[in-house]
Amino acid sequence: MSSPRTSAPTIGVFDSGFGGLTVLRALVARLPRARFAFIGDTARLPYGSKSRRTIARYAVESAQFLVREQGAEFLVIACNTASALALDAIQEAVPIPVLGVIEPGAAAARAASRTGDVLVIATDATVQSHAYASACRAQGLRAIEKACPLLVPLVEEGWTSHPVTAEVIGIYLDELNAEAAAQGLHADTLVLGCTHYPLLRPAIERAVPAGMRVIDSAESAAEAAAHLFHGRAAPLSSGDTPPTEIRCFATDSVEKFERLGSRFLGRPVGHVELVDLGG
Ligand code: DGL
Repeated sequence: MSSPRTSAPTIGVFDSGFGGLTVLRALVARLPRARFAFIGDTARLPYGSKSRRTIARYAVESAQFLVREQGAEFLVIACNTASALALDAIQEAVPIPVLGVIEPGAAAARAASRTGDVLVIATDATVQSHAYASACRAQGLRAIEKACPLLVPLVEEGWTSHPVTAEVIGIYLDELNAEAAAQGLHADTLVLGCTHYPLLRPAIERAVPAGMRVIDSAESAAEAAAHLFHGRAAPLSSGDTPPTEIRCFATDSVEKFERLGSRFLGRPVGHVELVDLGG
């Protein structure tokens, strides 16, 4: 008989930058006793404008770092773009359970929508993959997706409450609503299909039509992860293990990560370690 484990397992969380700290924040709220290792591939951000092949190569390298060097026993792909284009490649590359953010986001949209018609905003690469549209279709939903490439740099710049950002959001959503109406959709739910958009949630909620529900894929993914991990790792929720331990790694600009990351994590990220994953 195997003896009960005394330490909480390590959950690896991966993103192309520090936007994925929104997913880590939601995970910590649900799994306060877990150990987390987070890597932001800031040197190679953004993934959202790159090809599937490049995204898969980068994502697999980060996943392997978390498994081989940080001992991760579960992996959460916080990055929507990597989840959309590289989930299969990551699952093949590492011998541990891997969870992406797309399916939990679509499932949350299913639970929220009454009309069955949803809108999705995401990066270019995510939209071109139509991963959200497929996941929504599997849930019996119709979805229209729109790439909003200006939003990531605006968030990275810290302009989450800036009037320029509000204006950009308004333009994107007007175009998306017009497209939905032209296709005869009666959308009542908007999925935030990018790590950075939860930071814009107040501005987005001001811009959507009254009554539209806004789904944060970070929250949905954390909910799914908590469900998965509670079943497999009892110490995560018990009171007899030390409180949350978070180790953060970045492939570039550690100072910027420490400075801006706290906005995404909702608390200081502490010391961030620089890692080199190659070119
Ligand atoms: N993390 C990416 C996502 O959620 C956004 C940033 C990027 O383009 O790399 O899609």
